[in-house]
Amino acid sequence: MKYKTIIEPFRIKAVEPIKHTTREQRAAAIQAAGYNVFLLKAEDVLIDLLTDSGTGAMSSQQWAGMMRGDESYAGARSFFEFESAVRDITGFKHVIPTHQGRAAERILFSNIAKSGDIVPNNTHFDTTRANVEHQGATALDVPIPEGRQPQLFHKFKGNIDLGRLELIIQENVERIPLVMITVTNNSGGGQPVSMENIRQASAICRRFGIPIFLDACRFAENSWFIKLREEGYSDKTPFEIAQEMFSYVDGCTMSAKKDGMSNIGGFLALNDDALSQKCKNTLIMTEGFPTYGGLAGYDLEAIAIGIRESLEEDYLRYRIRSVEYLGKILTNEGVPIVHPPGGHAIYIDALGMLPHIPQSQYPAWALSLALYLEGGIRSVEIGSVMFGRQPDGSEKPSAMELVRLAFPRRVYTQSHVDYLAEVICYVNAIRHDIRGVEIVQAPAVLRHFSAQFRYNIFFTS
Ligand SMILES: Cc1ncc(COP(=O)(O)O)c(C=O)c1O
Repeated sequence: MKYKTIIEPFRIKAVEPIKHTTREQRAAAIQAAGYNVFLLKAEDVLIDLLTDSGTGAMSSQQWAGMMRGDESYAGARSFFEFESAVRDITGFKHVIPTHQGRAAERILFSNIAKSGDIVPNNTHFDTTRANVEHQGATALDVPIPEGRQPQLFHKFKGNIDLGRLELIIQENVERIPLVMITVTNNSGGGQPVSMENIRQASAICRRFGIPIFLDACRFAENSWFIKLREEGYSDKTPFEIAQEMFSYVDGCTMSAKKDGMSNIGGFLALNDDALSQKCKNTLIMTEGFPTYGGLAGYDLEAIAIGIRESLEEDYLRYRIRSVEYLGKILTNEGVPIVHPPGGHAIYIDALGMLPHIPQSQYPAWALSLALYLEGGIRSVEIGSVMFGRQPDGSEKPSAMELVRLAFPRRVYTQSHVDYLAEVICYVNAIRHDIRGVEIVQAPAVLRHFSAQFRYNIFFTS
């Protein structure tokens, strides 16, 4: 290409103001929120990188599609639009809409897994793990060893460990109802999985007669990484790459809040007739009739259009480049991050940045507070607050202390990213002033959502 600047591949038609606040106002807001960013009012946040899930901007085509939504209870035209978009990409025979990804997981696992089973996955997302464990089964993470080393560069750090997978299957074949691969690997840093890895994992599963599914939330981003990084794919379109990925598996769960480019929705898609019938029965009991599954007709339209848009090359180029652009500035400025940057997020290594804060004082949590205080940025801790509490109530430090900055789709522009970089570099420069936090009140499970903290706000000159 003649010009190297990658621009946002859209014009802005509707704008949503964001509110500037002073450091003093933010100090008061975060104190009122018990020093927990989940408890902030969103309007007190300048740049919201809490999650990329359901937070994206829809296109004019999607909004137009929503006006065409058919709200018939059964057999709505919008369902067939949705089904055909999902089928074109995935090739699966049965497409079951759900209100979001975790509902698809619940329906799948309640029909396929039982107590004593084992479900291997490159890395389970927390709702996937919870749904497996809810059946009394074991959710087993089988990432490649490189996936657990933040500073190490690997083109496909999200890969499943094929050697270990085969061994686990050999030893437990009767107890494995299915194998899953999460693309991209969210809990492992938004890292991609190679086509070769999916192909080989599929071959292993087929040899043992075990179904293999994708957790496909970020299938479009994964397709783009394959195009950029895997030999033999540079001339293929993301659409063709996605089709090939799905051709090696028997089904998928999907949160349409990610690469469905929609604010709500999801689906379960699969080939097995008998399993699909069972899943539809559960769907009717808990989500809705199979042609709407907990969604409005207009949501189905938005997903049908959005899921195709997620595979557009200009969009994917801009999307992955925005994350990489921030990663590059931070790396040049000496901010420790997980390498290489993932598809939807940058992960700052808080242990590397704040070695003076012991893990018992939650350095990643403290860093996320500093980012809010200094620049109005909301991020999320993925460290010992989220994972440290053990089922028996004891504390165990998390393997990593990360702060995730997840990019909503099509929401922020390059100047927002430049601002982010400036704030993060400033926080890095004053890192010695940042102090740890103490939990004063927390629920027994999923404490990060509602725990209250004690924090001595630091003063900078
Ligand atoms: C990899 C992965 N799987 C499943 C889910 C669950 O999707 P939902 O939030 O729509 O229930 C998420 C959500 O963040 C995810 O990242």
